[in-house]
Formats: sequence, C-alpha cells, structure tokens
Amino acid sequence: MNMARSLRPLSRRSGLMCPGKQAGGIRVHRVYSDQNQNQNPNPQHSEQASLYIHWPYCLKRCSYCNFNKYIPRSVDNEVMTECLQLETQTLLQLSQVSQISSVFFGGGTPSLARASTVAAVLETVSAHARLCEQAEVTLEVNPAPAGRTALRDFVSAGVNRFSVGVQSLNEASLRVLGRDHDPQQALQTLAEARTLCPGRVSVDVMFGIPGQSVASWESELEEVLRVCDDHVSLYQLTLERGTRLYKQVQQGELSMPADDVTASMYRSARNVLEQAGFLQYEVSNFAKRNAVSTHNLGYWRAQPYIGVGPGAHGRFVPRALGAVHREARTQTLEPDVWVREVRQHGHATRRRVQLSQLNLLQEVVVMGLRMTEGISHQHWAAFSPEANLHQVLGASSDVQELHQRGVLILDDRGLRCSWEGLALLDCILPVLLLELDTFVHTHTQRGESGGSPHSRTT
Ligand SMILES: C[S@@+](CC[C@H](N)C(=O)[O-])C[C@H]1O[C@@H](n2cnc3c(N)ncnc32)[C@H](O)[C@@H]1O
Ligand code: SF4
Repeated sequence: MNMARSLRPLSRRSGLMCPGKQAGGIRVHRVYSDQNQNQNPNPQHSEQASLYIHWPYCLKRCSYCNFNKYIPRSVDNEVMTECLQLETQTLLQLSQVSQISSVFFGGGTPSLARASTVAAVLETVSAHARLCEQAEVTLEVNPAPAGRTALRDFVSAGVNRFSVGVQSLNEASLRVLGRDHDPQQALQTLAEARTLCPGRVSVDVMFGIPGQSVASWESELEEVLRVCDDHVSLYQLTLERGTRLYKQVQQGELSMPADDVTASMYRSARNVLEQAGFLQYEVSNFAKRNAVSTHNLGYWRAQPYIGVGPGAHGRFVPRALGAVHREARTQTLEPDVWVREVRQHGHATRRRVQLSQLNLLQEVVVMGLRMTEGISHQHWAAFSPEANLHQVLGASSDVQELHQRGVLILDDRGLRCSWEGLALLDCILPVLLLELDTFVHTHTQRGESGGSPHSRTT
C-alpha cells in the first residue's frame, strides 16, 4: 500500500467521556480458540472496574449534538434516582467486581440532576463494592446557571472532579453551537469549580467551528489557558447527521472549516498547550501536574467498565451468570422505556455481545494508540499471551513503512504513535487492524464465535 497518499489527518473527537455515545460492540467474526481465551485470565477476570452513569436530560438541544439526550417538560427525580440506584446495584452484582476505581456522571447534562441523586448512586456503589476514598468521581457541568444544582452540593455528595463544557469563549461561536450560556457564565462556572476542586477541573473546548479561523482559535485557546485549571480536552466539531448544524451546512447557511484548516488548528493547539506546560497524554487530552483523568485512562487501557443509565455502554464479564468472557452491553436508550425495564428487571440491558479475543485486541489497539504512551508489551501480553506485538505486526511491510515514515514506533517499549503520527491515527489504525485480523485468522481455528447479540436478558 502506498502510504504517502493514504495518510490523511485524523478526525479528533474526544467523545470518550460518554460511553453512552460510543459505537455498539464490534460484532464478533472469528476467535482464537476457546482454549486460548481461557489461558488469558487477566483482562477477563478483573476485580476492578470503573462506572459510567448517564443522565439523559438537557435544557436545550445544542445545534451540533447527537448524543443520547432528551429535552423533557419535567423530570421525575425520585424515579430517576430509584432506577439509577437499582441498575447500579444489579450490574455491580452481575459483574461481581469488588472495587470501583472511578465514577463518571456524564450526559446529557448531569449538572441538572439533584445532588441527592449523585449521593444516592455513590451510596449504592459503596454498599455493593469498594469505592476508595481517593477514587476519582467526575461530574460534567454545563455553564448555564438555569436549573443547575450548586456545585458545592455535588462536592458534598461525593464529586471530586468537574468537567466543564466551556466549548468556546467566543460569543458568536457559542451562538453557532446553540449553547445556552455566554462566555461570562462559562468563566464564572469555571472559577467556582476551581475553588471547590482545585487541580481537578477539566475544560472541554471546541475547534473547527464555522466562522473560526486558525488565528481566532489560537487566541481563544490562549484565553482559555489563562483561566483554566490543570486539564484540557479538545473537541473537533464533528458534523452529525440529523442535527440542526448539519441542516444549516447542507443548506449553505454555514460552512465547516476545510480539513487542512482543522489540521492546522489541532497542530497549533498542541503547540500552544505544550508551551503553557500541558503534557499531551492522549489524542485530545492534555494535563498539567499529572492531573490526568484516571476514568478515561481506564477506557484507553481497555479496562472493564459498567455503564448505567439510558443508552450507557459497558464492557465487563457478567460473572454472576458463570460467564468468563467480556461482553459489550448497551442499555435501553429512551428514558421512559429504560425506567419501565429497570423497574421490571432490575436493569435495562438492551443488547449484549460477547467479545472475542480478536475484538479485545482490536480495542486494545484502537484505544491504546490514542495515548501518547501507546501500548506497552506488558499491556499487550495481558490480552495476547500467545503472540507479542513484534510477532503480530513486526513483519508487515505496511507497518514497516509507517515506521520508516516516522509516524509509528514499535520498539522495546511497545507500540505507539510519534508526535506526527498521533495526528494521523485515523489512517494508521486501518493498517494495524488489517494486520491484526490477518494474523489472528491465520493463527487460529476458524469458526464463528458465540458473539450473537442477546436482547433483554440478565
Ligand atoms: C455530550 S456532552 C455532555 C456534557 C455537557 N452536556 C456539555 O455539553 O458540555 C460532552 C462533550 O461532547 C461534545 N460534543 C457533543 N457533540 C459533539 C460534536 N458533534 N462534535 C464535537 N464534540 C461534540 C460536547 O460539546 C461536550 O463537550
Ligand atoms: S448540553 Fe451537552 S449533551 Fe446537551 S445537547 Fe448540548 S452538547 Fe449535547
């Protein structure tokens, strides 16, 4: 394959805070033999997992967003609390994990939930698993003051990290995005969050907004850096079908910046952040003083997680059912249906797909290469004791070409992207996934896996 032409810039969307948004389980094709799966106890039988809680409601629909969110006339907080607790309890018991390492309240707009809901969910976690004092408990916060619970009440409920959806400090950009806050409200929210959780506040900022230039983005980012705490997540605006923004672009009312412009924005953001003392630890995430998100690191390191709430996704072994393989689980999307199902069955898992070892390895590659540290040999061996990274990828001429071009490194440390390579991850991954697929299929038994999706089951 001629990489010179095929390497195009990466589309960056830091959507990992919200597994409610992630694609469903990769359908299973073929697997290493069952025997091999059983020899791979480490990632499958973890005693630890992280927990994602999805709050599905927002006050207003942003013009670009197609996450699983609803704009209700009213919310029954008691019922939501009861069902989030019940589903948390059921899935914790199903997974039999003994320790929850981090909790992330995402959405939607979880800062519209009551602090008592957050406290009740955390109490349920503590009643059914160990939740260490130091465990990271993050809550996503929208800067609009309307309907929002006071941040200090969330801290009293057990939250110790905030992720503030600033998006932009430019009035015109916020209007294009259909946000219901202005720059001043974003600054106030950020200041309040920093006072409550110093060193543990992240900001989401967006680039690639219609009307934004590289120069205006740079000065905006510099303004963000003057007021932000120790963590920044960059989001490249993605045009999603079915959104108002999509329609506006289709109808020629607005136009998205060209790919080379967004690539320059990303490049300059990395430089500006680095000069300000932020270390990039993932494609879209930057931290000072090691204020990395341990919750998100869990996803990138392919560790198990439990997803609770409408549309949430999880990846864990349902050990209470006697299972030994990890499953991808998706909860029912629509909140009213989700409530009904949770009340009936204790949970609302709509879809389960058993992940084969190939699926797990695909996830290790796709997620692991997002991190600047990449995939260490030790990390890989936990999922693939049979064949190391050199055996799986080292002999490939396409992989060697990526190495020669200086975008991919495979050495004694493991596999990772170079600085330039990280911006081209979308082009590098298909090459690696193809090699992985070929290797697994030529070195293992053929046959369909047990990966057929289940519906409505335990
Ligand atoms: C789904 S929101 C939930 C948190 C909160 N409601 C907020 O708006 O900040 C999480 C992040 O996803 C981002 N996001 C949603 N749709 C996006 C899109 N089409 N392109 C890029 N980022 C997007 C949001 O801007 C936000 O920073
Ligand atoms: S507030 Fe957040 S979740 Fe709600 S519509 Fe806007 S971006 Fe989406």
